[in-house]
Amino acid sequence: MKAKIAVLPGDGIGPEVTEQAVKVLRAIGNLYGHSFELENGLIGAAAIDATGNPFPLETETLCRKSDAILFGAIGHPKYDNDPNAKIRPEQGLLAMRKRLGLYANIRPVTAYKALSSISPLKEEIVDGVDFVVFRELTGGIYFGEPRGRSENGFSAFDTCNYNKEEIQRVSKLAFETAMNRKKRLTLVDKANVLATSRLWRETVTEMAKDYPEIELEYMFVDNAAMQLIQRPKDFDVVVTENMFGDIITDEASVIPGSLGLLPSASVGKNTSLFEPIHGSYPQAAGKNIANPIGAILSAAMMLEHSFQLLDEAKMIRQAVDQAISSGKLTEDLSPKVPTGTNEVGDHIVSIIRSDQWIHRPQLVS
Ligand code: IPM
Ligand code: MN
Repeated sequence: MKAKIAVLPGDGIGPEVTEQAVKVLRAIGNLYGHSFELENGLIGAAAIDATGNPFPLETETLCRKSDAILFGAIGHPKYDNDPNAKIRPEQGLLAMRKRLGLYANIRPVTAYKALSSISPLKEEIVDGVDFVVFRELTGGIYFGEPRGRSENGFSAFDTCNYNKEEIQRVSKLAFETAMNRKKRLTLVDKANVLATSRLWRETVTEMAKDYPEIELEYMFVDNAAMQLIQRPKDFDVVVTENMFGDIITDEASVIPGSLGLLPSASVGKNTSLFEPIHGSYPQAAGKNIANPIGAILSAAMMLEHSFQLLDEAKMIRQAVDQAISSGKLTEDLSPKVPTGTNEVGDHIVSIIRSDQWIHRPQLVS
């Protein structure tokens, strides 16, 4: 197949981890005879430096004419320490989500047996963890109006609003995913306090009538924060609003042992974006120490979601599993004998190109 992919490396460690994902995509393309046409675009602090805009029109156009987007990370300390900065890199990410309509952020959390001793949680709690969070991404308090400061500057306000349609479209994806998994869906909300959460409950409860096989459970977000760490194995599919999803997925990322392992997909009607859930980690930028696995698994999610290349996605996941078992890993996972970002990428590519695959297609080049 032929596909055009927009590559937005962004800031900090974004470029180096994205480079490893691109290597893997090229290896898969060669192996299966797909032509992935990659074009780079600017976003975040890198885009502010070059154009003054964290999500320039040129990048938006590139995204719109591409079949999928591979994204690295966004953020730079020079903006974090300046609360008065009018233009911030994060605005680029939020603008991109909103303008491209990327309404559902899918974050799978999987534990690896070979890493269970690295997790800060007990091995028996971690072994076998496998759930996926659907986070609503273009609504709620992140985007609600009005927002801002009072005239005298002594108070500030944000607005959280949701309409039924926004709740339905992300929840539909969550229900459908649950149907293909263990048929358990947890709605995380704060319906004992918030009107928006009560609308979520009402809407998701109505939708559940179309999925009689699914066991739907409701959980307040404060309780969910506790349960996710105490008994993460009991979760299958979780659906929640934007801000709660942001918080519980960072929390969930400690379960497998490193934030650097987790991929994500941000799905829209016309296009989708794939990115590791970690941030720009500026202290590590350019040092060849960042974990590229989250970025590489994001490329696997792209092949599956955007191009229905299921075998190819599976091959990437199996190669990552083998790399993890081999112990050749970056310092977050192997602090005593760390392997570099680049070398982990090369190792995963060499596993993909090895002749162990029974159903491996003919090498095209
Ligand atoms: C994420 C990030 C972003 C968010 C920030 C960088 C705006 O934390 O993708 O989870 O809060 O959504
Ligand atoms: Mn976050």
